[in-house]
Amino acid sequence: MAVADDLAEDIKRLKREKNAVLLAHYYVDGEVQDVADFVGDSLQLSQAAASTTADVIVFAGVHFMAETAKILNPTRRVVLPDLDAGCSLSDGCPADRFAAFTARHPDHYVISYINCSSGVKALSDCICTSSNAEKIVRSVPEGRPIIFAPDRNLGAFIAKQTGREMLLWRGSCIVHETFSEKKLIALKLRHPDARVVAHPECEPQLLAMADFIGSTSALLKYTKDSPAHQFIVVTESGILHQMRRSSPHKEFIPAPPDANCACNDCPFMKKNTLEAVHRSLVTLEPEITLPEDLRVKALRPIERMLELSV
Ligand code: 13P
Ligand code: SF4
Repeated sequence: MAVADDLAEDIKRLKREKNAVLLAHYYVDGEVQDVADFVGDSLQLSQAAASTTADVIVFAGVHFMAETAKILNPTRRVVLPDLDAGCSLSDGCPADRFAAFTARHPDHYVISYINCSSGVKALSDCICTSSNAEKIVRSVPEGRPIIFAPDRNLGAFIAKQTGREMLLWRGSCIVHETFSEKKLIALKLRHPDARVVAHPECEPQLLAMADFIGSTSALLKYTKDSPAHQFIVVTESGILHQMRRSSPHKEFIPAPPDANCACNDCPFMKKNTLEAVHRSLVTLEPEITLPEDLRVKALRPIERMLELSV
């Protein structure tokens, strides 16, 4: 048996023995998705984390996701296979700078994308993900000014969809800003029948070329339901695994990054190797913890989001 198969089998055994649930985001490697109990987008994963009765949550994702799981379900042990699995959006919005920013606009309703630290969540009125951002923004009474953080591209996209003017924190995702407009135009010319699907973390000039824009789960559903046979996928490459599994007869072409690199792989998500997941199940480390007062402050805006998402 190959090493990967051995590891996958042992991960299954350890999950049973330790009463652990393995949650995986669509952007982690396919072999990790295949051994997970649940694979989903950011919203689905936080809902799964909130409702699990397992003793241990191993989160094959990034730090803010595991932290959100701990905030929502504090009596479980939450483990992130590699503590260095961060996120450029979260890192680009430190809580102290965000506190100074919101203090300058005390009349604004603060909506933060889930890709942020617990410190930033605690300073927010409501959290959103890419699958409910439009709904959350529309829930704010007309006339109330809004701060949207930390992703300027998602913010600009939602501002356009809703017609709401929003004060944007100017953060971005290093992966979604990597796609080349010129190369996408060339690819579309080579594949005139292909539908272009894109994540709203992409820059506006890329989104302008998309036939469909949505969260990872929405992109997956669109490719499944669409009668088209060929898709150009403008988001992190991990999603291709589930797209190919759900539509084996369709063709999925990853949009090219600007440089000759694998920059459409999120370096943080890819830290969740099979080996790292296995190690974390053996040791139940690294554990995610946070001070109780901070957890309680960060919980309120997440709960508001979950109430608005049903
Ligand atoms: P969604 O899966 O919620 O669309 O989020 C994408 C993402 O960037 C996660 O880091
Ligand atoms: Fe963060 Fe972008 Fe990686 Fe998602 S893909 S975890 S937004 S750096």
